[in-house]
Amino acid sequence: MGFQLFCLRVAGFLVVLVQLWAQCSHAQPVVPAVFVFGDSTVDVGNNNYLETILKANFLPYGRDFDTKKPTGRFSDGRIATDYTISLLGFDSFPLPYLEIRSTGVNLTIGANFASGGSGFYDSTAQHFNVLTMNQQLELFKEYKNKLAAEVGSTNATSIVSDALYVVSAGNSDFLQNYYINLRLRRLYTPTQFSQIVLNLQTKFIQNLYSLGARRIGVVSVAPFGCVPLQLTVSRQATGCVESLNQVASSYNQALNNTIGHLGASLSGLKIAYFDIYNGLLDIIKNPAANGFKEARKACCGTGRVETAILCNQYLPGTCTNASEFVFFDSVHPSQAASQLLSNNLLAAGIALVS
Ligand SMILES: *[C@@H]1O[C@H](CO)[C@@H](O)[C@H](O)[C@H]1NC(C)=O
Ligand SMILES: *[C@@H]1O[C@H](CO)[C@@H](O)[C@H](O)[C@H]1NC(C)=O
Ligand SMILES: *[C@@H]1O[C@H](CO)[C@@H](O)[C@H](O)[C@H]1NC(C)=O
Ligand SMILES: *[C@@H]1O[C@H](CO)[C@@H](O)[C@H](O)[C@H]1NC(C)=O
Repeated sequence: MGFQLFCLRVAGFLVVLVQLWAQCSHAQPVVPAVFVFGDSTVDVGNNNYLETILKANFLPYGRDFDTKKPTGRFSDGRIATDYTISLLGFDSFPLPYLEIRSTGVNLTIGANFASGGSGFYDSTAQHFNVLTMNQQLELFKEYKNKLAAEVGSTNATSIVSDALYVVSAGNSDFLQNYYINLRLRRLYTPTQFSQIVLNLQTKFIQNLYSLGARRIGVVSVAPFGCVPLQLTVSRQATGCVESLNQVASSYNQALNNTIGHLGASLSGLKIAYFDIYNGLLDIIKNPAANGFKEARKACCGTGRVETAILCNQYLPGTCTNASEFVFFDSVHPSQAASQLLSNNLLAAGIALVS
């Protein structure tokens, strides 16, 4: 067990051991690279390069980020994976692949392929002109060629197989597609649609494995019946939209089972289920106990409907302290909530990288 990994374990059990952690932070990262695939929960700026309305590269997004500038993250600051990546010992974050593609910078520490609004069902992304999950995989193939050209094929192969992979999507397939798409709702019950999405997600993970991934963290879907936008749309005065949470929770159970099967059947694969459902639900149901003042309304604007281009600096009403809010916009968690969530993921993450 390396020193860095030792530190990671300590941090995992006692998240506040800041002093000890400070001694560790100059060690080599635990893994050579991190690759991220998914939707707006993990996009760090790929959508900036696309003709889409699903962008977050303007204020108030980013106002609490390390640089105090918007980046394309759908948050006032960091997203959960940023905390994980820092804890792994990286001193900068893997860049959006569409940026690497045009600049060639910092290729070797990995890349982020995520695109806000993407999903496993291709039309989820296509409706908003963002990268489908399959396009993200195609770009990863392109990345691998660039990496091999830069560090040689032997080094590239070990970077690819030792790296950590994070897959976080599925929410948009339901909220941005199924539930607003009459055609899909006529064709499939929620249970049938869930099965289709899960099959696509399974295929995605198998493809990632075929391309060399051996340490994969798969993020659950969120309790999306609790996001302020859904509370507004469903005129939910108290509690969350239970029918939506039920779909999310069933999806997650099936996903967790599938991950168990994949781990048992694909040789050399370490795969973990990253449960954000229960952590986020706990924060939403007990905001004060978790250090928050507001869980039903977001910080941005009225806090009831604004997200992406509708959440901008010309809106009146945006809060001054986003750390008091579980949600920064009507769909996405604040930096403070993301930090708490990332702490919940530590144990599963450590199992993958040790
Ligand atoms: C590239 O990596 C270096 C070293 O970690 C870092 O200082 C720099 O900020 C990174 N560049 C970008 C654009 O993130
Ligand atoms: C490959 O990795 C080795 C060992 O880390 C290093 O010495 C060498 O410079 C790398 N090759 C390239 C082309 O970067
Ligand atoms: C996921 O499945 C494992 C068994 O494979 C079980 O131990 C664990 O509790 C499940 N996690 C959740 C959050 O349901
Ligand atoms: C913002 O809110 C958080 C959480 O309630 C609190 O800990 C922090 O002190 C506040 N910051 C300011 C500048 O008031």
